[in-house]
Amino acid sequence: MEVSFTISKRRIPWRDRPLSVWKYRELLPVDDRFITSLDEGGTGLHLCSRLGRELGLKRLYVKNEGENPSGSFKDRGMTVALSKARELRKRRMVCASTGNTSASLAAYSARAGLECIVLIPRGKVAAGKMVQVVIHGAKIFQIDGDFDQAMNMVVELAERRKSFYLMNSINPFRLEGQKTLAYETVDQLEGKTPDALILPVGNGGNISAIWKGFTEFQQLGITKSRPRMIGIQAERAAPIANAVKKNQKAIKPVTNPQTVATAIRIGSPVNSTKVLRAIDESNGTAETVTDGEILDAQKTLASKEGIFVEPASAASIAGLKKLRDAGRIDPGDLVICVTTGHGLKDPSVAEYWKTAEGYTLKITQPDWIQRLERLL
Ligand code: F0G
Repeated sequence: MEVSFTISKRRIPWRDRPLSVWKYRELLPVDDRFITSLDEGGTGLHLCSRLGRELGLKRLYVKNEGENPSGSFKDRGMTVALSKARELRKRRMVCASTGNTSASLAAYSARAGLECIVLIPRGKVAAGKMVQVVIHGAKIFQIDGDFDQAMNMVVELAERRKSFYLMNSINPFRLEGQKTLAYETVDQLEGKTPDALILPVGNGGNISAIWKGFTEFQQLGITKSRPRMIGIQAERAAPIANAVKKNQKAIKPVTNPQTVATAIRIGSPVNSTKVLRAIDESNGTAETVTDGEILDAQKTLASKEGIFVEPASAASIAGLKKLRDAGRIDPGDLVICVTTGHGLKDPSVAEYWKTAEGYTLKITQPDWIQRLERLL
């Protein structure tokens, strides 16, 4: 999908509008009359000085997509694709999901009064995301298999039954919404482009969409450069990072992918060609991280900066640490880590952080204040 819009830099129509996905509606292929919105986008771009100091970076920002209405970046794409579905008179939305896509689709379908059907891997979706899908009234089908199989099933379903409208990231309108993260970031940096943008990669829709956004702003003459796009994957679910490391032109699917970051537990990414192209064109790279590194990064970000993200999102921080340790990111670089989903979506990490129990105090102990002070 090409942008056929011409603008004069002095008369950018969205300049004085507040941050949001629809701020950039001239660059989104939807008739305004069909917009279904929950106020998505406009998420914080947080300068992280304490974490930056630890990693030897002066300009480290976290773009926290967990601040979206359903708690993940999926809402950017969903508001656009679902509005388009209404314009196209579709009524029956369907997706496969590791959790966030289904949570977001369920919310937007409820808002628009459309039917929502989700196929998810049984027992592999984090508890917070499951609650969202249920509460928004989606019809849930659990698959005795992994995400990649659920994906094959919805693709076949949409091919064989035209009434089902596929809402996974192969739907080009999803990516149109997700590209606004790039626009928004440039606006938040007052016209600057970051040197590197680091994010977790599953199916690869988000990294491809964001690359498209930066490319369009450059084509429109709003920016002069584009960032290096850096994708992070979990070590045992890393078809893209494996291909990048071996300099291969196509991925080799990973069978039975495994990781604590269930959102990116994907062995056969549907957008792999686009991802490899974005990484190559941007002079970027891809890296793998272990589950231990992901959980440590999650805790570091939460305890040093007050930002609680789900494990998949923390992969971006873990990947940054690894790349800094290897000297592959310069100390002077302006770096943005995209954290894609809110920490409360996956409460299972509480098990890992046993210290959550803290100490016991009783009001019946006369010296409870002294006890408390001794434990500090
Ligand atoms: N981070 C989170 C929190 C996600 O939920 C996903 C994908 C990604 C990163 C990867 O994004 O696929 O565009 O490369 N979640 C999908 C889902 C697969 O079903 O919710 P991607």
